[in-house]
Amino acid sequence: MPDDVVRIFDTTLRDGEQAPGIALTRAEKVEIAEQLARLNVDILEAGFPISSEGEFEAVREIASSVRGPVIAALARVTPGDIERAAEALRGAERWRIHTFISTSDIHMTDMLRMSHGQVLDAIREGVKLAVSYTDDVEFSAQDATRTELGFLLECFKVAVDAGATTINVPDTVGYAMPHEFGELVRRVREALPEHVVISTHCHNDLGLAVANSLAGIVNGARQVEVAVNGIGERAGNCSLEEIAMIIRTRGQALGVRHHLNTREIMRTSRLVSSLTGYTVQPNKAVVGSSAFAHESGIHQHGVLSNRATYEIMDPLEIGLEGNRIVLGKHSGRHAFADALAKLGITLEGERLNRAFARFKELADRKIQLTEQDLEAIVGEELGAGAEETFVLESVVVGGGTHLEPRATVHLRRGDEVIQESAMGDGLIDAAMGAIQRATGVEARLVTFNVSSVTGGSDALGDVVVQLDVEGRRVTGRGVATDVVEASARAYLAAINRALQVKAAPTGERVTP
Ligand code: KIV
Ligand code: ZN
Repeated sequence: MPDDVVRIFDTTLRDGEQAPGIALTRAEKVEIAEQLARLNVDILEAGFPISSEGEFEAVREIASSVRGPVIAALARVTPGDIERAAEALRGAERWRIHTFISTSDIHMTDMLRMSHGQVLDAIREGVKLAVSYTDDVEFSAQDATRTELGFLLECFKVAVDAGATTINVPDTVGYAMPHEFGELVRRVREALPEHVVISTHCHNDLGLAVANSLAGIVNGARQVEVAVNGIGERAGNCSLEEIAMIIRTRGQALGVRHHLNTREIMRTSRLVSSLTGYTVQPNKAVVGSSAFAHESGIHQHGVLSNRATYEIMDPLEIGLEGNRIVLGKHSGRHAFADALAKLGITLEGERLNRAFARFKELADRKIQLTEQDLEAIVGEELGAGAEETFVLESVVVGGGTHLEPRATVHLRRGDEVIQESAMGDGLIDAAMGAIQRATGVEARLVTFNVSSVTGGSDALGDVVVQLDVEGRRVTGRGVATDVVEASARAYLAAINRALQVKAAPTGERVTP
């Protein structure tokens, strides 16, 4: 019998970060990793070190600074990948090499051009090499659900004989149905020794990632690979918050539990959403803005007399608490740093100075700032590179029903101040046009998302944009009391990001 603890393996920073358009900076990755540690995930997959120099450095920083979870890194079963992963992870307290190869006929023939025997040899050699660095080795058979069962079990046995202690069953293409996936996990569980932990990794192409992961748990899996807000390749991965709250709410029926501090779920979801630019749909289970809203009169009446009439989870359990006011315009640097520390956010040196300057600007225009406002300010600051190429000094707009919208921006680059103006379809469009002219960077707006950080007409506007600059997707975030200014900030942040990415000597990025 497997034990009753389901290990939560978070892959937000690896598979999640492979979602189109997401490109987190190193500081953003570390911030998310620290929040995942507060959430108390068991294993944190920090990245795929061989894929680029930037990715390697991010994994290295997370491994050496984030305490609590086991830090994992992905590697193909090839020596170069495994050595690089070990090098990146070395600074961690506890670490895991997660190594993989495809095992389905279609992947082996059309992608790897390897025979069954070659794949088995590669697994044996790869896992052995990984075990020479650490005794915590996970093996994944990519495209397991489309692999012939006999061969899949042979691959897993070779991996276990070579020293792997976790065996992952990925539904890489999101093709399986819950009854099939559950049966597959049961067969894998039965074929392998008890000390080996069976893991699921389900993609959401048919909207079944959570259901399949749950079927895996019911059939003996004791690790689930998940991503915050369900982000990941294509339609994404099994959503962390959904599987976490299923286990929390229905744990008795399932006979399992987990170690997560669910009160950190809401904050983790917001942080990931704002840093990736992937917004959460309002009716998303657990973390959607409507997930605990009761619209019908009958429901409202019921919930007022007894919450349990229509709520199966306590919103407090996921950290959906009142938005506490923490600071106002008279608060000083010390109070600001203190409030951030209470939120578990550490900013130092120049970053702290810049975030404090932004806080002061905003506090002067808004009477009081809440915890969520502070998170948004820090999110904007983290999105900016260590050294921004262009800084927004001012944006002035004019227009109306019968006046063509026009914007003038002043941008600073070093000691130089650049002024440019543009007309547009609207004030935001005009401001973006003026920024394009001032920076000389051609960009196409791919997505534009505006939300208010808190409620009320004095709420901060929070804008996330995704741009296409020379075929590369970049995101930017801006926060301001005015939505045109927030948009201009977001747009400029994305352009700065594009310039930084272009300047970085990373070479081509490889993704699994
Ligand atoms: O989807 C997949 O198969 C993966 C593996 C690398 C685990 O992400
Ligand atoms: Zn995956």
